[in-house]
Amino acid sequence: MKEDILSLQDLRSDQILAMLDHASSLKNQFKTQGSNLKYLNGKILGMIFQKPSTRTRISFETAMLQLGGHAINLSFNDLQLSRGESIQDTSKTISLYADILMARVYDHKDIEQLSEYSSIPVINGLSDLFHPCQILADLLTILEYKKKLRGINMAFIGDGNNVCNDLLLGCSKLGINIRVSTPLGFEPPNWVVEVARTSARKNESALLITSDPTEAVVAADVIVTDTHISIGKENEFDSREKIFFPKYQVNDDLVKYAKKDFIFMHCLPAKRGKEVTSQIIDGPHSVIWSEAENRLHVQKALLIKILGDSSVHNRNHS
Ligand code: CP
Ligand code: NVA
Repeated sequence: MKEDILSLQDLRSDQILAMLDHASSLKNQFKTQGSNLKYLNGKILGMIFQKPSTRTRISFETAMLQLGGHAINLSFNDLQLSRGESIQDTSKTISLYADILMARVYDHKDIEQLSEYSSIPVINGLSDLFHPCQILADLLTILEYKKKLRGINMAFIGDGNNVCNDLLLGCSKLGINIRVSTPLGFEPPNWVVEVARTSARKNESALLITSDPTEAVVAADVIVTDTHISIGKENEFDSREKIFFPKYQVNDDLVKYAKKDFIFMHCLPAKRGKEVTSQIIDGPHSVIWSEAENRLHVQKALLIKILGDSSVHNRNHS
């Protein structure tokens, strides 16, 4: 059966941990030997972007090149999708040429449809509901800086959005205590919170949703935020600004409740002065550049997990 990753619901905790471990060794190998060429020899990744991207696009394309494969960028406007061809036909067509598809879509239903009709694996590169690749990179970054995951206290401050949803799923699977603070009405969807609660109970971690950012940040090892205005929400700029700002800004006043050695994370792009101040995002606790770099390494591990290691295949047939 093909292996789709539409959210972190699609990965078990042991699979996530194995992937983080593999990502670390690939990162090491790349830094010491300068190449990972071979693992995905000749494999093709198709990438559909309905909305803009810097990190996701570049890190996936770079990952494929560095692993010996190739990535084809299919921006929405260049595809017949933009002229009304169905997702079903697009999906079936791409399956004829590529080995795997990564898509960034507005509506999560679109990626579910891509997955339903493609015969190749599909990875979610961000939908309105989830951002699994980002959270895998976040987990790798926490592991690097804190040397463990279980028992870590995470605070997410801001919008109960795609990033927050997959953080809830990922943290609760791995025994990370997570407190989410959003304005009333901007909480993550109930069903996501319920899935995460069940998983948190099983893994003996704590989960709290609160409208009080201070309550979330008390004793935090990791503070995470994201834009208050996600892609596609630009028309809500004025109303959101009034609701989120300044109460849900990560700033010096808020972080004084965290542990002294807390780390600050943000998936980027960031609006300095809005969800976070420059002092924090550019300050000594910030690990945003490791976080962005880790997109590359963790996605390599993800692609190899799904597509298999071509170097083994090539060795067996040489
Ligand atoms: N963090 C992230 O997904 O960045 P991009 O939107 O630039 O891809
Ligand atoms: N929540 C943000 C994440 C961007 C990577 C958005 O959806 O725009």
